[in-house]
Amino acid sequence: MSTAFRWVEQARSGRARAGHLHTAHGTVPTPTFMPVGTVGTVKAMTMDAVRSTGAGIVLGNTYHLMLRPGAERVRALGGLHRFMDWPGPILTDSGGFQVMSLGPLRKLDQDGVTFSSHIDGSKHRLTPERSTDIQHALDATITMCFDECPALPAAPEVIAQSMRMSMRWAARCREAFVQRLGYAQYGIIQGGTEAELRAESVRALTGIGFEGYAIGGLAVGEGQELMFSTLDATTPLIPWDSPRYLMGVGTPDDLLGSVERGVDMFDCVMPTRAGRTARAYTERGTLNLRNARHAVDSRPISPHCDCLACTRHSRAYLHHLFRANEILGPMLLTWHNLAYYQRLMRGIRSAIVEGSLEAHAAWLRAQWAMEDW
Ligand code: GUN
Ligand code: ZN
Repeated sequence: MSTAFRWVEQARSGRARAGHLHTAHGTVPTPTFMPVGTVGTVKAMTMDAVRSTGAGIVLGNTYHLMLRPGAERVRALGGLHRFMDWPGPILTDSGGFQVMSLGPLRKLDQDGVTFSSHIDGSKHRLTPERSTDIQHALDATITMCFDECPALPAAPEVIAQSMRMSMRWAARCREAFVQRLGYAQYGIIQGGTEAELRAESVRALTGIGFEGYAIGGLAVGEGQELMFSTLDATTPLIPWDSPRYLMGVGTPDDLLGSVERGVDMFDCVMPTRAGRTARAYTERGTLNLRNARHAVDSRPISPHCDCLACTRHSRAYLHHLFRANEILGPMLLTWHNLAYYQRLMRGIRSAIVEGSLEAHAAWLRAQWAMEDW
């Protein structure tokens, strides 16, 4: 029996919320961090390993999958869940953000975007309807609206025009969306760092009506202070019963501050990308395992971590793997970083449920500021 898609509150602390997201592909406790599986793989990880970190939902990308292997092939092979062996919920980004980062390879008009593939230069087009269809073909549990994410800083008038186009696109995405039990479509709030434009965007999207609301257009170089003040102006306007997803964020400190401002869902390449470049996230900040000080250190990366890297291997071994350019280095460290991100979110969730978020947040921040063990 399938269940309806809904977010159910479990506890709150100020504007922070803990809850459960019920979907056709299972239930996920929130706040949650979604590992990025851009092309149908969380890079350097088996899906069993991803699961073992405690991840409940992963992200895929319309843009990459439409180019290779192609959405219709994924559909023919039983959808993305089966194709990548992730039976849990999958959220797919719409391609709007990824196409934007192609720079001169794309051409935008009011109807959509034409672009050249970064793989072979072939011409493609994405529109609100096409992006939504592709996400259906992939069988995404959560489909994202096709939007434009303008680069910041930009003139308020440029941000306003872009946001209004994204809102017209959102209405077209909603028209194209096929409702299925337990599935969802999220609108994406735009409007840069202007409170009034964000409010206008929330009004437009809630007027259309979506199962969830994402906050886009942030973490594009504006800095944490402006990101937080934009969240302060935005999250209180989103219906309380709807899940809120902050796209492309962020560092552990960004996640904590955003949960305190009412965000439930996150995705970011940071833990996976850092894992491939020898950077480890720990309770005491970050370490670079290529650094010579780890060469004969027999301790684990973190004494608090139950990942394979920490339970079976030393910092010295990880150091050796990265110095020798061995593929096991990125594998083990990606595992560790995802385990850290999931442990961080579990701790924050428990604190909200137990009514101790303020003390827990202060403790996390004090730990991040400390020297390595
Ligand atoms: N990922 C990070 N930011 C954004 C955004 O504004 N829009 C979309 N579609 N994806 C994103
Ligand atoms: Zn670890």
